[in-house]
Amino acid sequence: MKSNIVKIAIIGSGNVAYHLAKALKQTEQNLVQIFGRNQDVLISISKELDIPVSTNKLADADLYIISVSDSSVEEVSKLIKNPNAIVAHTSGSLPKEILKGDYNKASFYPLQTFSKSKNLDYAEIPFFIEAEDKDVEAILTEVASEISRHVEVADFEKRKYIHLTAVFACNFVNHLFARAKEISDSQQISFDYFMPLIEETFDKIKSVTPKDAQTGPAVRNDKRILEAHKELIKNPEQLAIYEVMNDSIQKMYNLD
Ligand SMILES: NC(=O)c1ccc[n+]([C@@H]2O[C@H](COP(=O)([O-])OP(=O)(O)OC[C@H]3O[C@@H](n4cnc5c(N)ncnc54)[C@H](OP(=O)(O)O)[C@@H]3O)[C@@H](O)[C@H]2O)c1
Repeated sequence: MKSNIVKIAIIGSGNVAYHLAKALKQTEQNLVQIFGRNQDVLISISKELDIPVSTNKLADADLYIISVSDSSVEEVSKLIKNPNAIVAHTSGSLPKEILKGDYNKASFYPLQTFSKSKNLDYAEIPFFIEAEDKDVEAILTEVASEISRHVEVADFEKRKYIHLTAVFACNFVNHLFARAKEISDSQQISFDYFMPLIEETFDKIKSVTPKDAQTGPAVRNDKRILEAHKELIKNPEQLAIYEVMNDSIQKMYNLD
């Protein structure tokens, strides 16, 4: 049994709140409540995870994890009136000072893409912690370490760049999948055919740097194929992406 059990309340009922609740349920920490504004969603989380929920009375806790949309973090942070509490948001792109209240301000940022419908291996998710002092930092590090094997202290300056890197490595890559599927769908080609290719692309960069792993007509400087592809593309956004990506690849390899 652990000596430092922290009473935790999560605020929010979206993707991150749900997964943090699920992850914390598997630890020895005491998750006392999920607080939010969406009654139906809270009830379904409560039924699935067996955690008390509320839309009107925030429970007493040692640690409040605010996991609402970035634009609402500041407003929601004003709900907490306990000066002894630790209040942490989960955003990669907000400073801890966005939290407005007389309490210990912190950040508890999990670097992963979260969707409720997708199970995750929580032990593999890097957590980045920031706090106002070493004691709070130690408490948050301990809580995160019960979830994950990768916990680090990172100030806002570092977190901003972690989040920016994640936008390139995840959000943009996912958007390219969405555009790729648009193209295959337009020709009634199953997107399933591309799964082994996508999996190998990700697998390869575990052993070869992304720069060294680059293939395709742009890095081969195959102008005939580049022009032929442009002829095929009718959608202006797809064309703009095609051009900007080829341009970026050719600049990286000094080909233009
Ligand atoms: N998604 C990710 O992959 C990811 C990864 C790392 C960190 N984060 C960070 O984690 C935080 C939550 O992201 P998310 O993806 O979980 O968001 P989300 O799925 O869009 O959920 C947002 C939640 O915020 C609630 N909310 C918004 N405004 C509110 C307000 N004024 N009062 C009370 N509740 C409010 C929403 O309630 P309703 O349902 O009623 O609208 C919903 O429960 C953000 O700071 C985000 O930057 C996200």
